[in-house]
Amino acid sequence: MKKELIELRINGRAHELAIEPNRLLLDLLRQDLGLTGSKRACDDSSCGSCTVQVDGVPMLSCTMLAASCEGQEITTVEGLADHGGLAALQKAYGDFGGAQCGFCTPGFMMTVRWLLANNSDPSEQEIREALSSNLCRCTGYSQMYQAIRAVIEAEQKAAPTEMVGAK
Ligand code: FES
Ligand code: FES
Repeated sequence: MKKELIELRINGRAHELAIEPNRLLLDLLRQDLGLTGSKRACDDSSCGSCTVQVDGVPMLSCTMLAASCEGQEITTVEGLADHGGLAALQKAYGDFGGAQCGFCTPGFMMTVRWLLANNSDPSEQEIREALSSNLCRCTGYSQMYQAIRAVIEAEQKAAPTEMVGAK
């Protein structure tokens, strides 16, 4: 199949890649670029393990064509790293036992980061709804919710407080 040239940004870096038009985004990330954080667990859009952000929105990379991402910004779990170290969410997952086999974890994290970018103080219900497309068969979810809640509290404490009348 004839390859076509696409340009996209992945975790902040520009890429120009020659790909077949039917190349799946997940295969491009894992096989061509070695970004193996995103997982293939079901391959039919039902588990969320392959979730990445495309222009800031969680998408399933196992059924998305890479060519359809032309000109867009892709963020994978590797892009969450904080100056090469673990991001707060990754640390919290470790602290609270939010990951067991870890297969679902990258996909969950990409959805959580999208949620918190759009809602810095989500209710329990809003967290559950946001994560309803991500499935975990190991943890029972409660440790994950504890980790997410800890990150929310830490980010709220760190947020600068607005001074009334400052403007
Ligand atoms: S591997 Fe993509 S949704 Fe399961
Ligand atoms: S930690 Fe194993 S599937 Fe979620």
